[in-house]
Amino acid sequence: MSLITELEELIPNLEAELVRAFSLQELEQARVACLGRKGSLARIMARLPELAPAERPAVGQKANEVKTLLTELMERRKAALEALAEAERLSGFDASLPGRVPWQGSRHPTTLVIEEICNIFQSLGYEVVSGPEVEADYYNFEALNMPPEHPARDMQDTLYITERVLMRTHTSPVQVRAMKSRKPPLAVIVPGKVYRRDSDLTHTPMFHQIEGLLVGKEVSLAQLRGTLTIFLREVFGSETRVRFRPSFFPFTEPSAEADISCGICGGKGHTGKDACRVCKGTGWVEILGCGMVDPAVFEAVGYDPEEVTGFAFGLGVERVAMLKYGIGDLRMFFENDVRFLAQF
Ligand code: PHE
Repeated sequence: MSLITELEELIPNLEAELVRAFSLQELEQARVACLGRKGSLARIMARLPELAPAERPAVGQKANEVKTLLTELMERRKAALEALAEAERLSGFDASLPGRVPWQGSRHPTTLVIEEICNIFQSLGYEVVSGPEVEADYYNFEALNMPPEHPARDMQDTLYITERVLMRTHTSPVQVRAMKSRKPPLAVIVPGKVYRRDSDLTHTPMFHQIEGLLVGKEVSLAQLRGTLTIFLREVFGSETRVRFRPSFFPFTEPSAEADISCGICGGKGHTGKDACRVCKGTGWVEILGCGMVDPAVFEAVGYDPEEVTGFAFGLGVERVAMLKYGIGDLRMFFENDVRFLAQF
C-alpha cells in the first residue's frame, strides 16, 4: 500500500474511533493514538526517507491535508461531547442509563364497554347523546312520572345540590331532554355517570349507565325484545340466552328486567359440585331494566301518546364490564391500580 493510501485510511479509522469516544479522556486517547508523537500519522511519516526524493513532496502535502482533517474531526467531537456534558449537567439526565420502554396507556374497562355498546347501537342507527350530571328534579324524577312523594324516589336517594337540583340518579332524564329537543321518530343512546347514596361492596356512589330510547309510530314490545336480544348476544356472545321478567319502573309500562344466561357456569347454575357464585346458582344474571315508554312521559314532553309509542332501557356499565371480563370486585374500577388497568 502506498504511503498516500495509508494516510487517507487514517481518516475513516479516526472517525470510527471517535464515535466510540464518550468522554474527554477517551477522546484524548484517540488523539494520542492518531496524532501523538508515536501515533499512526507519525509512524507513517517516519517512513518518508524510504521514498525517492521526488515522491516526498506529494506525500508531505498529503500528510498536511490529512492532519488538518484529523484535527478538525477531533475538534468537532470534542465540541459535541462538551455540549452533551453541559446538557446533562443542566437536566440531571444521565445519557448512559439504559433505555426505558415508554409507558403505554390502555383504556379503562368502563370506557371500553361504553364504546362497544355505543358502537353497536350506532350501527343500528341510534344517535349518541349526553346530558348534565347535575340535574333538575324535574328531569330526573318529575317528568319521568315520579312526582314529589312518589315511593320510587326512595330507591334512588342521591346527593342534593339544592332542594330541586341534584346529582342525577340515572341516565333516564336524558330521555326527556332528547324528546324535548327532537321530533319523533328518534333513537338515542346515552352513556354517562350517575350518582346514588349507596356505598358498599357492590355499590359505589358514582357509577356509569347507558340509556337507550326509541320512539316512533307503532314501536312494539316485540321490537324492544328483538333489539335487546341482538345487542346482548353481540356483547356477551352469540350463545347467550336472554329472558325478560315483568318488573316496574314509573316511566315505562309495561316494564321488564332482562337476564342473560350466566357466562361463568354456562347457565347451569353450578361449576362442578359448587353452586355458581356469579349467578348464585340460578343460571341467570340480571343485566338491564326496560319497558315501553309510559304515556305520562310522552305527555310531559309534549308528544301525543295516541300517535307515538316507544321503548327505553337502561343498564349499568360496570356490571356489564364485570360480567364480560370476569372482574370480581367493583372497587377495582376506581382504585386506578395499573396492574388492573394494564390488562385491558
Ligand atoms: N333508569 C332505570 C334505573 O336506573 C333503568 C331503566 C331505564 C328502566 C329505562 C327502564 C327504562 O334503574
